[in-house]
Amino acid sequence: VAEGDQAMVYSTPECIYPITVTNGEMFNNKFGSFRHSEMIGLKYGSKIRSHDNRGFVYILHATPALWTQVVPHRTQILYLPDISFISLYLDLRPGKVVIESGTGSGSFSHSIARTIAPDGHLYTFEYHEHRAKVAQEEFVQHKLADVVTAEHRDVITNGFGKSNIADAVFLDLPAPWDAVAAAKDALRKDTIGRICSFSPCIEQVQRTALTLDELGFSDIRMFECLVKDYEVRTAPLP
Ligand SMILES: C[S@@+](CC[C@H](N)C(=O)[O-])C[C@H]1O[C@@H](n2cnc3c(N)ncnc32)[C@H](O)[C@@H]1O
Repeated sequence: VAEGDQAMVYSTPECIYPITVTNGEMFNNKFGSFRHSEMIGLKYGSKIRSHDNRGFVYILHATPALWTQVVPHRTQILYLPDISFISLYLDLRPGKVVIESGTGSGSFSHSIARTIAPDGHLYTFEYHEHRAKVAQEEFVQHKLADVVTAEHRDVITNGFGKSNIADAVFLDLPAPWDAVAAAKDALRKDTIGRICSFSPCIEQVQRTALTLDELGFSDIRMFECLVKDYEVRTAPLP
């Protein structure tokens, strides 16, 4: 852990906080007070006892998975089950070029960036100016600026401004069907491209699927990704 690092202070799965490690600063929570200076030089994963000996925390890397759990919500966000499922189906891996819109709170963007780094690139577009600005600041803070280009842009009106470069396109928009033609233009023509549109309503899915079909996409499939905790129940024998 070094001065200036973005790190996660982990107490329990429900109690995780992002910090910028700064000499002279103190982190306080219900488990006690922790001096940043005592974190510097430790290995990530270390357990730290509180200054007042009330409890302990772990200092962890600021991974995209932890970031998704703590990111300040400016919008609805993608969570880990959808993130993993979509990343696999879009065949994201190091070196891939990805286009995304809207950036929203940047939850999925962080995972995309980590998956395609160090040689891939994510172009992410957001038409809400403040959200675009905050996401851009977070990419810089998290040392992802080399992998992510974030732009303030209305992709429905203006398209992506990219042609024949993307291996994959991800849409999380209210009217994704209006962005499909621009997405098609952005996809590489020399290989099989993949597109995922993420929508909460079946009417949005239907319209997008129709447009994908009209514009010549094949293998159009719809999934709902549900995660269920395993439940153990005690049942009295008859
Ligand atoms: C649900 S959020 C995306 C959340 C994101 N996937 C995440 O994981 O944090 C949808 C975003 O799309 C943006 N948006 C809506 N229409 C847009 C457009 N025409 N061009 C660019 N962004 C747009 C909204 O401002 C909003 O921030």
